[in-house]
Amino acid sequence: MSRPKIFVTRRIPEIGLHRLRESCEVDVWEDALPPSHANVMERTRDCVGLLSLLSDRIDVALLDACPALRVVANYAVGFDNIDVSACTERGIAVGNTPGVLTEATADLAFCLLIAAARSLGAAERSVRAGEWRTWEPRGFVGRDLTGATLGVIGMGRIGSALARRCHAGWGMRVLYAGPRAKPDVDTALGAQHVPLPQLLGECDFLSLHAPLTTATEHVIDARALALMKPSAVLVNTARGRLVDQTALHEALASGRLFAAGLDVTDPEPLSPDHPLLTLRNCIVVPHVGSATVGARDAMAEIAADNILRGISGEPLRHAVGT
Ligand code: GLV
Ligand code: GLV
Repeated sequence: MSRPKIFVTRRIPEIGLHRLRESCEVDVWEDALPPSHANVMERTRDCVGLLSLLSDRIDVALLDACPALRVVANYAVGFDNIDVSACTERGIAVGNTPGVLTEATADLAFCLLIAAARSLGAAERSVRAGEWRTWEPRGFVGRDLTGATLGVIGMGRIGSALARRCHAGWGMRVLYAGPRAKPDVDTALGAQHVPLPQLLGECDFLSLHAPLTTATEHVIDARALALMKPSAVLVNTARGRLVDQTALHEALASGRLFAAGLDVTDPEPLSPDHPLLTLRNCIVVPHVGSATVGARDAMAEIAADNILRGISGEPLRHAVGT
């Protein structure tokens, strides 16, 4: 019997590829840059499984070109790159990799929060540029963390892992906004579910952890930014399109907002001459929230497992949609 064919859109950790190769014919996109939409369509044409990245758009055109497809396993927790309902209509299972990247991503959010609060990017660049002349009583004066108020939009796994760090480490008061109150989080962290305008007005640090949907797109726009304290810091490790970047640039450039730390942007990559990168109060890193050995290995294992289950018609380890 011929082995089921799988297309993997980039080289992922060997632990996942090895599992797939045990029973499947595995075609891996070896370039450092992602395949184009046409490339993915072409290489997936006769595959039963597609292991995709968040940079691959899995839409109706692609699904229609790949009639044998049974499962799409995204190597990510987010799945806004996939038309899940179109997959469901065609009986194609969709999987993601939640849980295993929670701590790594919360660590990066925490890292960006401090980095933005203490102007770490600009401070480090000044040393490299030979601008460090003396100890400056007024140089790079940042914001205090202890006792501050953290606002979280999207109190899921990653949001609550960040809130735990901020509450336990700096005694921060925790507020969150989102569709539902989370009584277990409230009890553990003394957190409070509040309406979005209240959250925006009261927080010193705002961290975004909501999935990208039509309801959350540009949740941080000019109006939202206008409600925030000028001393506040925005952190985004979720998806770039949660933020209206033009409005963010204006708020940062005019001093309406103290600083921002971004792991995600719109688009990705951000071009090197993007206006956000001219600001000293904005630190940007290239979507590396889950980039630890442990998280990436565990993501590869789950994505491979989702593929293997999907092609044998079993429920996925982590399925999205219905
Ligand atoms: C990364 O952004 C992910 O969704 O896993
Ligand atoms: C994602 O893992 C989340 O629930 O925050």
